[in-house]
Amino acid sequence: MTRALLYLATLFPLCAWASPAGSSRKYGDCKELNVSVTTSSRGYVFDIPKVNNDIEATFWAINFDTWSHKPNPEPILKNTTISGTYNIHAQVCVPKSGGDVLQIATHGAYYDGRYWDAKLEGHSYVNAALQAGYSILTYDRLGTGQSDKPDAYTVVQAQFEVEILRELTVISKNGAFGFKPKKIVHVGHSFGSIVTSAFIATYPALSDGAIITGYVLNEHLGEVGRSSWNVQHATNWPSGYVTMQKSGIQATFFGGDFTPDLLDYGDKIKSPTAVAEIASGGLLVMASGPFKGPIHYILPELDFFICAGDCKNVTSLEALKHTFPNASSIQLDIQPNTGHALPLHHNATAGFQVSFEFLRRNSL
Ligand SMILES: *[C@@H]1O[C@H](CO)[C@@H](O)[C@H](O)[C@H]1NC(C)=O
Ligand SMILES: *[C@@H]1O[C@H](CO)[C@@H](O)[C@H](O)[C@H]1NC(C)=O
Ligand SMILES: *[C@@H]1O[C@H](CO)[C@@H](O)[C@H](O)[C@H]1NC(C)=O
Ligand SMILES: *[C@@H]1O[C@H](CO)[C@@H](O)[C@H](O)[C@H]1NC(C)=O
Ligand SMILES: *[C@@H]1O[C@H](CO)[C@@H](O)[C@H](O)[C@H]1NC(C)=O
Repeated sequence: MTRALLYLATLFPLCAWASPAGSSRKYGDCKELNVSVTTSSRGYVFDIPKVNNDIEATFWAINFDTWSHKPNPEPILKNTTISGTYNIHAQVCVPKSGGDVLQIATHGAYYDGRYWDAKLEGHSYVNAALQAGYSILTYDRLGTGQSDKPDAYTVVQAQFEVEILRELTVISKNGAFGFKPKKIVHVGHSFGSIVTSAFIATYPALSDGAIITGYVLNEHLGEVGRSSWNVQHATNWPSGYVTMQKSGIQATFFGGDFTPDLLDYGDKIKSPTAVAEIASGGLLVMASGPFKGPIHYILPELDFFICAGDCKNVTSLEALKHTFPNASSIQLDIQPNTGHALPLHHNATAGFQVSFEFLRRNSL
């Protein structure tokens, strides 16, 4: 059903870390590349408003939030199959020490792969992973950053992104990035955590462990509404791609201990999101399955969209164990005084270490 090819032009420089697109860092070497992914999944035609301008973007959010007809999940007009070959922009980093364990990190909505790799000292998850001895693959999900931007209503959907993650995982395992990792850990943030949870639930044999950040199913999930996002139609992007105004970035992604420069940076690296991605994500939130690896859940204490501003006591270890009953170990932590975008707050590095220590205790 699926197949992934690297563009020939980038296949060979993969091992040549010193090539122009590669860069050497303190704890490892990184390379950006484009991967051509061919795959398919089920899909949907949703009954959702079109977004071609800012007024329609605000209507899209308010329509969903209106109490009397809250279309949650949004109505499906037709079941479809999504298939095709798309360009996915990725970055692969390998530590100087080797890096037998590869982390594959999937970012959330309104960002792209740069979420994991802030160019600010102490805020790059990628650099922290390298320092801790992990290889790490980050990528721009379909419809974000430098990846392809296909139809925002019918193609850019969560289930298809699970299949893209599967392709990236399989080619990584097979050595496409110049080394064959012994173990693979899947890391998600927010919408990327929904994709990651669905991935380990669907393909448990393809993952050795997971870190689920900034997402947990709970009674306050989405309670503050989409209007809190302050969306606009993304300028010069196709129909159906929305982006947040800076006030939406602050409300959604920041809280507690951050300074204006971090918010400025968070606003600078934002990326548009396709409306059907949000609609289809609503169908995946209940992912559960026989995954056998360890799972670390880490919630920002003050997460506005996920926990209506306070993630303490919204879930329990028991609830999480119920979702993945066969997981070898489950740990739940709250990163104090932090909003949704964990890496973009003070003390981010200490939070990263909690996950790495969990992985080490579980031989990853
Ligand atoms: C990847 O593709 C994008 C979009 O086509 C392009 O802008 C970028 O230069 C490519 N990057 C690499 C490393 O080939
Ligand atoms: C789509 O498929 C689901 C089950 O796979 C079914 O319950 C539903 O009625 C279908 N929807 C439409 C509009 O055909
Ligand atoms: C709520 O969460 C806090 C911090 O995680 C914890 O100390 C407290 O025991 C929890 N309270 C309840 C009732 O679970
Ligand atoms: C998962 O755990 C349940 C309950 O402990 C058990 O019945 C089931 O066989 C396990 N499944 C797998 C695939 O190990
Ligand atoms: C920083 O994060 C670590 C790990 O979660 C936590 O133990 C510590 O209390 C935090 N420090 C502050 C000042 O919030």
